[in-house]
Amino acid sequence: MRLFIAIELPAELKAALGRLRAEIAGARWVPGEQIHLTLAFLGEVAEERLEQLTAALARIQSSPFRLSFSGTGCFPDHRRPRVLWIGLEPEAHLQQLAAQTHAALLACGIPQEERPFSPHITLARLKMAPPGAADRFLHQQKQTLSPFAVQEFTLFQSRLTPQGALHTPLRVFPLAAATGNAERH
Ligand code: 2AM
Repeated sequence: MRLFIAIELPAELKAALGRLRAEIAGARWVPGEQIHLTLAFLGEVAEERLEQLTAALARIQSSPFRLSFSGTGCFPDHRRPRVLWIGLEPEAHLQQLAAQTHAALLACGIPQEERPFSPHITLARLKMAPPGAADRFLHQQKQTLSPFAVQEFTLFQSRLTPQGALHTPLRVFPLAAATGNAERH
Protein backbone atom coordinates (compact mmCIF):
# COMPACT_ATOMS: atom_id res chain seq x y z
CA MET A 1 0.00 0.00 0.00
CA ARG A 2 1.26 3.49 -0.83
CA LEU A 3 1.03 5.49 2.39
CA PHE A 4 1.62 8.98 3.69
CA ILE A 5 0.94 10.87 6.91
CA ALA A 6 -0.66 14.29 6.82
CA ILE A 7 -2.61 16.90 8.69
CA GLU A 8 -6.12 17.10 7.31
CA LEU A 9 -7.38 20.69 6.92
CA PRO A 10 -10.84 22.02 7.84
CA ALA A 11 -13.25 21.69 4.91
CA GLU A 12 -13.79 25.44 4.46
CA LEU A 13 -10.04 26.01 4.39
CA LYS A 14 -9.56 23.32 1.76
CA ALA A 15 -12.27 24.99 -0.31
CA ALA A 16 -10.56 28.39 0.07
CA LEU A 17 -7.19 26.92 -0.93
CA GLY A 18 -8.82 25.16 -3.87
CA ARG A 19 -10.04 28.56 -5.09
CA LEU A 20 -6.45 29.83 -5.44
CA ARG A 21 -6.29 27.88 -8.69
CA ALA A 22 -5.04 30.00 -11.62
CA GLU A 23 -4.51 29.53 -15.35
CA ILE A 24 -1.04 28.06 -15.76
CA ALA A 25 -0.44 25.85 -18.79
CA GLY A 26 0.53 22.31 -17.80
CA ALA A 27 -0.33 22.80 -14.11
CA ARG A 28 -2.03 19.97 -12.22
CA TRP A 29 -3.90 21.62 -9.34
CA VAL A 30 -4.56 19.52 -6.27
CA PRO A 31 -8.37 19.16 -6.00
CA GLY A 32 -9.61 21.23 -3.05
CA GLU A 33 -10.86 18.23 -1.06
CA GLN A 34 -7.42 16.55 -1.32
CA ILE A 35 -5.31 19.50 -0.14
CA HIS A 36 -3.35 18.52 2.99
CA LEU A 37 -0.18 19.24 4.94
CA THR A 38 2.18 16.28 4.49
CA LEU A 39 4.14 15.21 7.58
CA ALA A 40 5.84 12.20 6.02
CA PHE A 41 5.77 10.09 2.88
CA LEU A 42 6.13 6.34 3.41
CA GLY A 43 5.85 4.95 -0.09
CA GLU A 44 4.97 1.27 -0.47
CA VAL A 45 4.39 -0.54 2.83
CA ALA A 46 3.24 -4.17 3.09
CA GLU A 47 -0.26 -4.45 4.57
CA GLU A 48 1.03 -6.84 7.28
CA ARG A 49 3.07 -3.97 8.70
CA LEU A 50 0.09 -1.70 9.24
CA GLU A 51 -0.52 -2.87 12.78
CA GLN A 52 3.06 -2.23 13.94
CA LEU A 53 3.00 1.11 12.15
CA THR A 54 -0.26 2.33 13.67
CA ALA A 55 0.89 1.22 17.14
CA ALA A 56 4.07 3.31 16.75
CA LEU A 57 2.12 6.33 15.48
CA ALA A 58 -0.39 6.03 18.33
CA ARG A 59 2.48 6.48 20.83
CA ILE A 60 3.31 9.95 19.45
CA GLN A 61 2.55 12.63 22.02
CA SER A 62 1.79 16.22 21.11
CA SER A 63 -0.58 18.87 22.35
CA PRO A 64 -3.02 20.36 19.84
CA PHE A 65 -1.73 23.58 18.25
CA ARG A 66 -2.59 26.31 15.77
CA LEU A 67 -1.02 27.05 12.42
CA SER A 68 -0.94 30.31 10.46
CA PHE A 69 -0.16 30.73 6.80
CA SER A 70 2.88 32.50 5.48
CA GLY A 71 3.64 33.26 1.83
CA THR A 72 3.54 31.15 -1.28
CA GLY A 73 6.62 29.64 -2.93
CA CYS A 74 7.83 26.92 -5.23
CA PHE A 75 10.14 23.89 -5.27
CA PRO A 76 12.88 23.40 -6.26
CA ASP A 77 13.48 27.01 -7.30
CA HIS A 78 11.97 29.88 -9.29
CA ARG A 79 13.84 29.02 -12.48
CA ARG A 80 12.43 25.50 -12.57
CA PRO A 81 9.19 25.50 -10.57
CA ARG A 82 7.76 21.99 -10.19
CA VAL A 83 5.61 22.45 -7.10
CA LEU A 84 3.64 25.54 -6.08
CA TRP A 85 2.92 25.70 -2.39
CA ILE A 86 1.64 27.86 0.41
CA GLY A 87 3.83 27.97 3.50
CA LEU A 88 3.15 28.00 7.23
CA GLU A 89 4.59 30.18 9.95
CA PRO A 90 7.20 28.36 12.04
CA GLU A 91 5.52 26.46 14.88
CA ALA A 92 7.55 24.36 17.30
CA HIS A 93 4.71 21.88 17.88
CA LEU A 94 4.55 21.14 14.16
CA GLN A 95 8.30 20.59 13.94
CA GLN A 96 8.13 18.30 16.98
CA LEU A 97 5.22 16.36 15.55
CA ALA A 98 7.10 15.88 12.26
CA ALA A 99 10.24 14.84 14.17
CA GLN A 100 8.30 12.30 16.22
CA THR A 101 6.64 10.95 13.09
CA HIS A 102 10.03 10.66 11.39
CA ALA A 103 11.47 8.79 14.39
CA ALA A 104 8.44 6.45 14.61
CA LEU A 105 8.79 5.55 10.93
CA LEU A 106 12.52 4.91 11.20
CA ALA A 107 11.85 2.71 14.24
CA CYS A 108 9.45 0.70 12.05
CA GLY A 109 12.18 0.32 9.43
CA ILE A 110 10.54 2.71 6.97
CA PRO A 111 13.28 4.86 5.38
CA GLN A 112 12.84 8.62 5.59
CA GLU A 113 14.48 11.49 3.77
CA GLU A 114 17.34 13.17 5.60
CA ARG A 115 16.43 16.70 4.55
CA PRO A 116 14.82 18.89 7.17
CA PHE A 117 11.03 19.05 7.32
CA SER A 118 9.87 22.09 5.39
CA PRO A 119 6.17 22.61 6.14
CA HIS A 120 4.17 23.48 3.03
CA ILE A 121 0.83 22.74 1.43
CA THR A 122 1.14 21.72 -2.19
CA LEU A 123 -1.33 23.56 -4.42
CA ALA A 124 -0.14 22.50 -7.86
CA ARG A 125 2.45 20.42 -9.66
CA LEU A 126 3.91 21.86 -12.83
CA LYS A 127 5.33 20.29 -15.92
CA MET A 128 7.12 22.68 -18.25
CA ALA A 129 5.21 25.77 -17.12
CA PRO A 130 5.88 28.75 -19.39
CA PRO A 131 8.61 31.00 -17.95
CA GLY A 132 7.22 33.51 -15.48
CA ALA A 133 3.80 31.85 -15.12
CA ALA A 134 4.55 30.48 -11.65
CA ASP A 135 6.09 33.76 -10.51
CA ARG A 136 3.04 35.69 -11.68
CA PHE A 137 0.84 33.35 -9.66
CA LEU A 138 3.11 33.58 -6.62
CA HIS A 139 3.20 37.39 -6.71
CA GLN A 140 -0.56 37.69 -7.07
CA GLN A 141 -1.35 35.84 -3.86
CA LYS A 142 -2.56 38.32 -1.28
CA GLN A 143 -5.30 36.10 0.06
CA THR A 144 -5.81 36.27 3.80
CA LEU A 145 -6.36 32.80 5.14
CA SER A 146 -7.30 32.36 8.79
CA PRO A 147 -5.16 30.34 11.21
CA PHE A 148 -6.51 26.87 11.92
CA ALA A 149 -6.40 24.36 14.76
CA VAL A 150 -4.59 21.03 14.47
CA GLN A 151 -6.11 18.39 16.71
CA GLU A 152 -5.12 15.18 14.93
CA PHE A 153 -3.01 13.70 12.19
CA THR A 154 -3.99 11.02 9.70
CA LEU A 155 -2.44 8.00 8.02
CA PHE A 156 -3.58 8.04 4.39
CA GLN A 157 -3.49 5.52 1.62
CA SER A 158 -2.82 6.97 -1.82
CA ARG A 159 -4.02 4.97 -4.79
CA LEU A 160 -2.63 6.05 -8.13
CA THR A 161 -5.28 5.97 -10.84
CA PRO A 162 -5.34 7.29 -14.40
CA GLN A 163 -7.58 10.10 -13.07
CA GLY A 164 -5.01 11.06 -10.43
CA ALA A 165 -4.24 10.00 -6.86
CA LEU A 166 -7.11 8.91 -4.61
CA HIS A 167 -6.49 9.52 -0.91
CA THR A 168 -8.28 7.43 1.72
CA PRO A 169 -7.86 8.09 5.45
CA LEU A 170 -6.93 4.79 7.14
CA ARG A 171 -6.48 5.89 10.73
CA VAL A 172 -6.77 9.17 12.64
CA PHE A 173 -4.46 9.91 15.61
CA PRO A 174 -5.83 12.55 17.99
CA LEU A 175 -3.39 14.98 19.65
CA ALA A 176 -4.02 14.97 23.37
CA ALA A 177 -3.67 18.13 25.46
CA ALA A 178 -0.96 17.65 28.10
CA THR A 179 -2.60 16.45 31.30
CA GLY A 180 -0.11 18.42 33.47
CA ASN A 181 -1.28 18.68 37.08
CA ALA A 182 -4.48 16.79 36.44
CA GLU A 183 -2.67 13.53 37.18
CA ARG A 184 -1.42 14.67 40.58
CA HIS A 185 -3.22 13.55 43.70
P1 2AM B 1 3.86 17.21 -0.86
O1 2AM B 1 2.79 17.72 0.02
O2 2AM B 1 5.20 17.73 -0.50
O3 2AM B 1 3.54 17.36 -2.30
C1 2AM B 1 0.80 12.28 -0.97
O4 2AM B 1 1.19 11.86 -2.22
C2 2AM B 1 1.81 13.24 -0.41
O5 2AM B 1 3.04 12.60 -0.23
C3 2AM B 1 2.04 14.40 -1.34
O6 2AM B 1 1.30 15.50 -0.88
C4 2AM B 1 3.53 14.63 -1.35
O7 2AM B 1 3.91 15.68 -0.53
C5 2AM B 1 4.09 13.39 -0.72
N1 2AM B 1 4.82 12.60 -1.70
C6 2AM B 1 4.33 11.98 -2.76
N2 2AM B 1 5.29 11.32 -3.41
C7 2AM B 1 6.42 11.54 -2.75
C8 2AM B 1 7.74 11.10 -2.93
N3 2AM B 1 8.10 10.31 -3.94
N4 2AM B 1 8.65 11.53 -2.06
C9 2AM B 1 8.29 12.33 -1.05
N5 2AM B 1 7.05 12.75 -0.82
C10 2AM B 1 6.12 12.37 -1.66
